[in-house]
Amino acid sequence: MADAVEAPPAPSLFERLSAGEAAPIAAEPVTIVIFGGAGDLAHRKLLPALYNLSLDGLLPPRTAIVGVGRKAMSDDEYRAFAKEGTAQFSRRPIDESAWPAFASSLFFVNASIDQAQGLGPLGARLDIVEHERGLPGNRIYYMAVPPSLFVPTVQQLQRARFVPPRDAATPAARPFARLIVEKPIGHDLDSAREIDDSIAEVFNEHQIYRIDHYLGKETVQNILVLRFANSIFEPLFNQKYVDHVQITVAESEGVGTRAGYYEQAGALRDMVQNHMLQLLSMIAMDPPHSLDADVVRDEKLEVLRSLRPIVGEEVDRRVVRAQYVAGFDMGKPVPGYREEPGVSPQSRTETYVAIQISIDNWRWAGIPFFLRTGKRLPKRASEISVHLKEVPPILFNADRARPLDPNVLSIRIQPDEGFALGISSKVPGPRVNIYPVKMDFHYGATFGASSPEAYERLLLDVMAGDATLFMRRDAVEAAWRFVMPILDRWRAQKDAPLPTYRAGEWGPAEADRLIEATGRQWRPL
Ligand code: BG6
Repeated sequence: MADAVEAPPAPSLFERLSAGEAAPIAAEPVTIVIFGGAGDLAHRKLLPALYNLSLDGLLPPRTAIVGVGRKAMSDDEYRAFAKEGTAQFSRRPIDESAWPAFASSLFFVNASIDQAQGLGPLGARLDIVEHERGLPGNRIYYMAVPPSLFVPTVQQLQRARFVPPRDAATPAARPFARLIVEKPIGHDLDSAREIDDSIAEVFNEHQIYRIDHYLGKETVQNILVLRFANSIFEPLFNQKYVDHVQITVAESEGVGTRAGYYEQAGALRDMVQNHMLQLLSMIAMDPPHSLDADVVRDEKLEVLRSLRPIVGEEVDRRVVRAQYVAGFDMGKPVPGYREEPGVSPQSRTETYVAIQISIDNWRWAGIPFFLRTGKRLPKRASEISVHLKEVPPILFNADRARPLDPNVLSIRIQPDEGFALGISSKVPGPRVNIYPVKMDFHYGATFGASSPEAYERLLLDVMAGDATLFMRRDAVEAAWRFVMPILDRWRAQKDAPLPTYRAGEWGPAEADRLIEATGRQWRPL
């Protein structure tokens, strides 16, 4: 009797969708050059993301990935480095039968941008690799380097003639040269402008992809679908029906080994100026007239431009900053921020920010948006919740001693991606007892697979030339313009007491008072 042949498992809905028209198509062969190729970002995020794309057959038919760094490393050593990072950080385990094909597209070049001819060896190697692999010279340059090296690297690219002159680099010109820039772009508005000006001498805006990895998260992309592919929510998204909106990005981790960067940044620069204001603009924007990258980005920019500036004493009323002191993480004692390695014992860097924002436009006039983010909070949880107005105090809500819970639409960004709508419902039985129930959607349960990592989506979009999920220069600068008066006020208050919170707790009492002063409360997560 012939052996039974097992039918391959039916593809999940997710697999069918992600293999279908929904996936952006990156069809043009490309060389991805990663400056900082042997660094932490490449190890933890970029190489695992590229591996997952290759596993899904989403990389262009021919690809080379060239890591560049100061370390001397052979191609084989780089492949081992990539494999180790992928084994540790990839969302899916390594498939030994698929790995060799991916590994054969990886190369490493030792180059230093400090020297005048630093990129000479890189140019020679790229020519050989591209010739051997039949690549036409489309290039993506990824700046996975500290911000202080963005401009020198871009200047070296120009000096080494890696980038076509700006006039020739139209969106349709081939081969293309694209640039990916990581955050932080600048330390303040002026330094952001300086970086943008220097990059603009070499690259046109349409060639520049500024990463805010929050925009690559599946749930964040779903905000637009939720809002504009359903008729139930959009009519309610305005000051007539919404009472307020909360955006929380909570992390349980402390500063870890990143004190060198974080001491200079703090939570306002690290999380609010970019990720949180992006989330705010996605949830508050008007419907764009098309899904064209610039049309979507124009609408988001409108939100940033409509933020009411928080200036002078108003900062003391609307913004709370705080720093964690020693406490517990899952029952384990953890040090306070000032005791972390590399942190000054007198540090005034904030690890927590809560802020009340007003958007001065017709849609949102008078509706507060409360944002909070912090390190060493009780858990890793990011969520946007839209709190609808209370039901009038009549009928089922007539008993003021037992008010009904207002409806809340909560969008869980991570973990357990999904969204839920809280609804009042009658408990079965002869009496009218009302109980808040939840209509709850979980990505994992419905689509049967883990969502792609943000970097997978973003890298694919750059290959496909789709800039929708990337930050345009004007948006970066508008966000800086909003946070600058807050930073200025804090700088002027060098000796003001800095609130603290215990590691493992939900931020300082001052943040509770901020929202409670308006008659509302932080939503428990
Ligand atoms: C980064 C910040 O941009 O985002 C980090 O620099 C922060 O401080 C991280 O921890 C959070 O990202 P995620 O995807 O883990 O929520």
